[in-house]
Amino acid sequence: MRQVLVTGSNGFIGRNLIQNLSRKKSEYKIITFGRDNSLEDLKSSLAQVDFVYHLAAINRTNDEKDFERVNVGLTKQIVDTLIDMNRKVDIVMTSSVQALADNPYGKSKKAAEGILKSYSEKMKASVYIYRLPNVFGKWGKPNYNSVVSTFCYNITHEKDIWISDENKEIELVHVDDVVKEFAHLLEIQSANKLIFSEVKPTFKITLGKLAQMIRGFHEDRKNSIVPDFSDEFIKRLYPTYLSYLDKNNLSQTLELKTDERGSLFELIKSKQFGQIFISTTKSGYVRGNHYHDSKIEKFCLIKGKAIIKLRNLLTQENISYEVSDQKIEIVDIPPGYTHSIQNIGKDEMIVLFWSDEIFDSQNPDTYYEKVENE
Ligand SMILES: NC(=O)c1ccc[n+]([C@@H]2O[C@H](COP(=O)([O-])OP(=O)(O)OC[C@H]3O[C@@H](n4cnc5c(N)ncnc54)[C@H](OP(=O)(O)O)[C@@H]3O)[C@@H](O)[C@H]2O)c1
Repeated sequence: MRQVLVTGSNGFIGRNLIQNLSRKKSEYKIITFGRDNSLEDLKSSLAQVDFVYHLAAINRTNDEKDFERVNVGLTKQIVDTLIDMNRKVDIVMTSSVQALADNPYGKSKKAAEGILKSYSEKMKASVYIYRLPNVFGKWGKPNYNSVVSTFCYNITHEKDIWISDENKEIELVHVDDVVKEFAHLLEIQSANKLIFSEVKPTFKITLGKLAQMIRGFHEDRKNSIVPDFSDEFIKRLYPTYLSYLDKNNLSQTLELKTDERGSLFELIKSKQFGQIFISTTKSGYVRGNHYHDSKIEKFCLIKGKAIIKLRNLLTQENISYEVSDQKIEIVDIPPGYTHSIQNIGKDEMIVLFWSDEIFDSQNPDTYYEKVENE
């Protein structure tokens, strides 16, 4: 079993990494090192482990000496201890794109890289250095080192956000991509050398656009609209946004449209995918008796018994499908077919509908026409 040390284990990336690695408990023993651990703890951990994720660092501080003390000092402590023990251990280090910048944080990361480079050369150990851009995802601390966390937290909690420069472009990488890359390193053959690596994909966006997107998610959520998940950035940003919702704000009450037939509510809407809506209908009642020029739908009876009738407006041919919850079926409603669904059971029926567009009362593409000619 591999013994793995994670420093900075209580941090944003650390927690996400440990969550991932803990799914392979039978393969890895994970030893954590956080701010509350002692130097003795570090030494005894380094005596047993064969892989280190060195994530502990100071990213923001009021005292610049902290960068030197932790980012450089702790790295040196790890390396010196391993050399004293004559231990060859593979190490992953989270450096930063700032390592090339002339600021105290960047300089401390560059110095830590140098210490690890010497260790790799001396012990012929694999050292993987990742100069990460801004990492975002669940469990990031708001109002600390991640603008995404801060924006998501403040917007989900209806607080103002402050944007230093709307046009400032930042580069982002998602924590799950970082963690997957890091976890993979445990499964590959040791390269026995220093490797500068990158995590892909990264995304560039201005602060103004980022804020606009997250505000858009928040407004759209109130109307049950989800974004375009075919966009790789949105696929990562939207779950991050949701992860910052207050625990008491995960649920939303939907508007129930009720009439003598039963009730209907819109469950989920998307500009790309259309919408899903659900109806309940009392015994004997009919819904529909209309057709669409271009809108398409799918009907799926979830509970009860129904007859779905269609008439092809071109050929006047009649078609009917008797459906029940004993055999779940999905029935396509093509354009140019007037259609209806009638509850022919004794109890209320529940039907799930999908249509390819969000219902637009100004342009509903829905025209009344009875299915059965009188
Ligand atoms: N997140 C990013 O956007 C980003 C970008 C580039 C590079 N990185 C690097 O990635 C690593 C992880 O970042 P992160 O976002 O997860 O930061 P984080 O949430 O601040 O995590 C860092 C962890 O290190 C711990 N730590 C600080 N000083 C320590 C010490 N002397 N001994 C032991 N633990 C100590 C912190 O403890 P406390 O919880 O007590 O503060 C914290 O839990 C860092 O090396 C960071 O520089 C991050």
